[in-house]
Amino acid sequence: MNYFSVNDVDDPNKWIDEALALKNELELKGPKSKTGKSICLLFFNSSLRTRLSMQKAAFNLGVESFVFNVGSDGWQLEFGDGTMMNGNTSEHIIEAAGVLSSYFDAIGVRAFPSLTSREDDYSEKILSQFIKHCSIPVINMESATLHPLQSFADVITIKELFPSKKPKVVVSWAPHPKALPQAVTNSFMQWAGKMDYDLVITHPKGYELAPEFMANATLEYDQDKALANADIVYVKNWSSYKDYGRILSQDESWTITNAKMNLTNNGKFMHCLPVRRNVIVADEVLDSESSVVIHQAGNRVTAANLVIQKLIG
Ligand code: CP
Repeated sequence: MNYFSVNDVDDPNKWIDEALALKNELELKGPKSKTGKSICLLFFNSSLRTRLSMQKAAFNLGVESFVFNVGSDGWQLEFGDGTMMNGNTSEHIIEAAGVLSSYFDAIGVRAFPSLTSREDDYSEKILSQFIKHCSIPVINMESATLHPLQSFADVITIKELFPSKKPKVVVSWAPHPKALPQAVTNSFMQWAGKMDYDLVITHPKGYELAPEFMANATLEYDQDKALANADIVYVKNWSSYKDYGRILSQDESWTITNAKMNLTNNGKFMHCLPVRRNVIVADEVLDSESSVVIHQAGNRVTAANLVIQKLIG
């Protein structure tokens, strides 16, 4: 079993209940004793939350974690089939995956997209090669197009905030100076599509997601209209999917301010972090009672606990 996307989860609502039960158990009883199992966390890109929440979750479950920053410390990996490796790449994924599989019980991989080739990125060139060549479970710690550990934490947080109500959840684009992946939004939309939400997405024209991520959502191009009566405002920047990897707008009127939050139903502000203050969201929102970003980031451990337990016990 791998944890690549929500499609690897048999019953997402049951997983939320199980994650909350495990969170409660760990709070009451403390970390489990050592299991003798180990997990490798392999990073091609930077991280704060993903790295440390996975390490904390492994500690909680008595699993030893080993972090490897392959992007800066490892041999440059080759992913092509049948390549003559007389260029910059020194080690093929076939050997690397085989060695890692012999050392560990599971592996987490973070590999961001290039944002230059939609075809390469949406074929999940790197994660799919790890899944193909590893003989141990592979956990997606944010791939080119998806971030399922983040999304699982997000839906757990919404469940804690609204245990019985069908919430109106609004996903809003906001401006950012750099081109960012669509992964967090794609993945949240996948998970949210499995939940009992009134789901709305709002963004400027040109920022439409790939159609497969829009299943149950209403698209509203007017951000103010979308925010009306929202219980959750989930904010994220992403670059264009259509005009692949490009920034089409830096319209500051999309920044989330108190005036925007006042349109909601006393809504809660969510963001995966890291967040650029006064670009994505004004200080007045992030520092207010309506922001749940720390609670949300705390649930990265809750999500990771269950994923690691499910995959290696
Ligand atoms: N949200 C998230 O994945 O944070 P990091 O990039 O710091 O891991």
